[in-house]
Amino acid sequence: MNPTRLLIRMSLTLCLGLTLACSLPQAKAAQQDYQPQVGQEGKDVVWVPTPQALVDRMLDLAKLTPKDFLIDLGSGDGRTVITAAKRGARAHGIEYNPDLVELSKSNAAKEGMSARTSFAKADLFESDFSQADVITMFLLSSINLKLRPKILDLKPGTRVVSNTFDMGEWKADATATAAGCENWCTALLWIVPVKVEGAWRLPQGELLLKQTFQMLSGTLKSGNNTMQVNGKLNGDQINFTAGGNQYTGRVAGSTMEGTMKPGGSWKATRSGK
Ligand SMILES: C[S@@+](CC[C@H](N)C(=O)[O-])C[C@H]1O[C@@H](n2cnc3c(N)ncnc32)[C@H](O)[C@@H]1O
Repeated sequence: MNPTRLLIRMSLTLCLGLTLACSLPQAKAAQQDYQPQVGQEGKDVVWVPTPQALVDRMLDLAKLTPKDFLIDLGSGDGRTVITAAKRGARAHGIEYNPDLVELSKSNAAKEGMSARTSFAKADLFESDFSQADVITMFLLSSINLKLRPKILDLKPGTRVVSNTFDMGEWKADATATAAGCENWCTALLWIVPVKVEGAWRLPQGELLLKQTFQMLSGTLKSGNNTMQVNGKLNGDQINFTAGGNQYTGRVAGSTMEGTMKPGGSWKATRSGK
């Protein structure tokens, strides 16, 4: 190679090397300095962080235990995921904004919670959250409504906690407010109910159940006698009254059984009608 071309090549290599050497730490610093702005655009909802007092209250309301796997839908800066991990649970955040995902990972590392946490840069509408025992979210009622069919298909007993926003006609099983919190201070809890709508056979007669989310109505037909049924589901736990008796039990597939007040036990099987 002639000396001039060699000189040009060496200069170019040096320039490129210098540019990379200078720009890489800058990129890293920029990432570390990333500070999200309250109200900044998000894919379907803006970023507003849940106040820490309400994060704590939401996890209390969900009765989160170290055995649980929590997923936060739209996980922002990762605070709910990290708080769940500090309580011993495994926790995962789904967040569309890549900068927030990186910030969450770095926040988790700073808190020593990397091992029990994970964050995915993904669209919550295209994500699988069927493995969760607890779902947390701070979205909008309209988004909760879109997610509702998918949530109702989760395993019975899955606890879903929303900051402030409701789920339409599916009324919350419990609510709580955080003390010392100024905005966005209410948590709502739903427990995914088992599906029991339809006909069941009891030794006493035929039980016809109509299910509206966790609420039950229907009839218990025994000979010529038709008794009204009213009840409620709590995950796979069932409670109903019929003809002055109170039935409490558990549903497992096509069988449900439990105890009765004033006394005795009961068992019902799906009659397939
Ligand atoms: C109100 S913030 C709540 C953040 C966090 N969960 C909390 O409670 O602090 C909503 C978050 O959802 C994210 N988001 C919006 N649309 C999304 C989508 N389709 N998929 C995933 N994340 C989304 C936003 O970027 C934002 O971080």
